[in-house]
Amino acid sequence: MAKLTVRDIDVSGKRVLVRVDFNVPFDEKTGEITDDSRIRASLPTINYLLERGARVILCSHLGRPDGKVVDKLRLTGVARRLSQILGKQVAVTRDAIGPETSEAVESLRSGEVLLLENLRFHAGEEENDPAFARKLAELADLFVNDAFGTAHRAHASTAGITRYLPSVAGFLMQKELETLGSILTSPAHPFAGLVGGAKVSDKVSMLENIMDKVDFLLIGGGMAATFLKANSYEVGLSLIEEDRLDTAIELVGKAADNGVTLFLPVDVVVADEISAGAESRVVSIENIPPRQKIVDIGKQTIDRFSEELRKCKTVFWNGPMGIYEIPGFAEGTQAMAKLLAELDATTVIGGGSTAEIVTNLGLTDKMSFVSTGGGASLNFLGGSKLPGVEALLDKDSN
Ligand code: 3PG
Repeated sequence: MAKLTVRDIDVSGKRVLVRVDFNVPFDEKTGEITDDSRIRASLPTINYLLERGARVILCSHLGRPDGKVVDKLRLTGVARRLSQILGKQVAVTRDAIGPETSEAVESLRSGEVLLLENLRFHAGEEENDPAFARKLAELADLFVNDAFGTAHRAHASTAGITRYLPSVAGFLMQKELETLGSILTSPAHPFAGLVGGAKVSDKVSMLENIMDKVDFLLIGGGMAATFLKANSYEVGLSLIEEDRLDTAIELVGKAADNGVTLFLPVDVVVADEISAGAESRVVSIENIPPRQKIVDIGKQTIDRFSEELRKCKTVFWNGPMGIYEIPGFAEGTQAMAKLLAELDATTVIGGGSTAEIVTNLGLTDKMSFVSTGGGASLNFLGGSKLPGVEALLDKDSN
């Protein structure tokens, strides 16, 4: 990797501020964390620092409180879960900055961990305000960015702070960049992109960027409706992006130009409404009823996609195949997850909802890599520079 990592600096006895992405899903009613993968993924960096006697100050956002204190977005539950996993007490401050926080940092000893309260309670975080960045920087001697999931945001704790502290990457950041980077630079072939999710617009850059790398592109999920419509199929009341029909046509053209075989669904599950208990049935794409919506890929499509994926040595998957939150419409998504888990291939799972699906099915260990970054992995695979990475020290800088 072109950036310095935590391995390249002396951390012993130092106050090390680590930006982690503890933006984890939790139950709105109980506050219980429903998936702690992101917390667990940060352990290699935290443990490495602790073993070397660093004073570890963690910071993260949770949700989008828009610069205000929102009690249900406090990091208390996250600190509790981290304490359990680490087997050591992790206190959380009342505020990310301020005199009490400075005192807590001062009394932190080597091998101890402190978590700062939700950074986004301060508007300065998302505004990348230099004053807020400087206040965070004053708490530490060194900065480590391990928050790959937030690396596409140029915020005070991901970008601004690097102006005031020597700044390097953590192990999770390194692993994400190297793994996702390797499927762009040196994937084993045949290589397939399995792409779903609601919108074409979210995925255009990524699709364009992987177009000259993949051999197969399989499109499912809500976005398949836009592709089908662009190919002159009637898609009933399915949500389509009218302003992306041309994009879909262009992408189909680019696939052909690059010798990529593009697969769209051949049959789909349709329903009157998107709700649990709604009646559904499988129809071919030529027979989508005018008053129904596509909610999943059909059985023939599952078989066809599976046949192609079984030929592959590398598969990248991003986006569900249907409305997977509703059990009756989750079959396509679950079938793809289970198939990928069995493949003798490098399977790389994009973050966000795709990672959540794989985790909920208990299949994480069966995949080669599950990214912790949703937007970040899409941006990275779309060829964008990530501000949180760009700002770190280069390997050849010293
Ligand atoms: C994510 O969950 O994708 C990251 O934590 C970034 O969150 P954001 O989209 O609210 O910036």
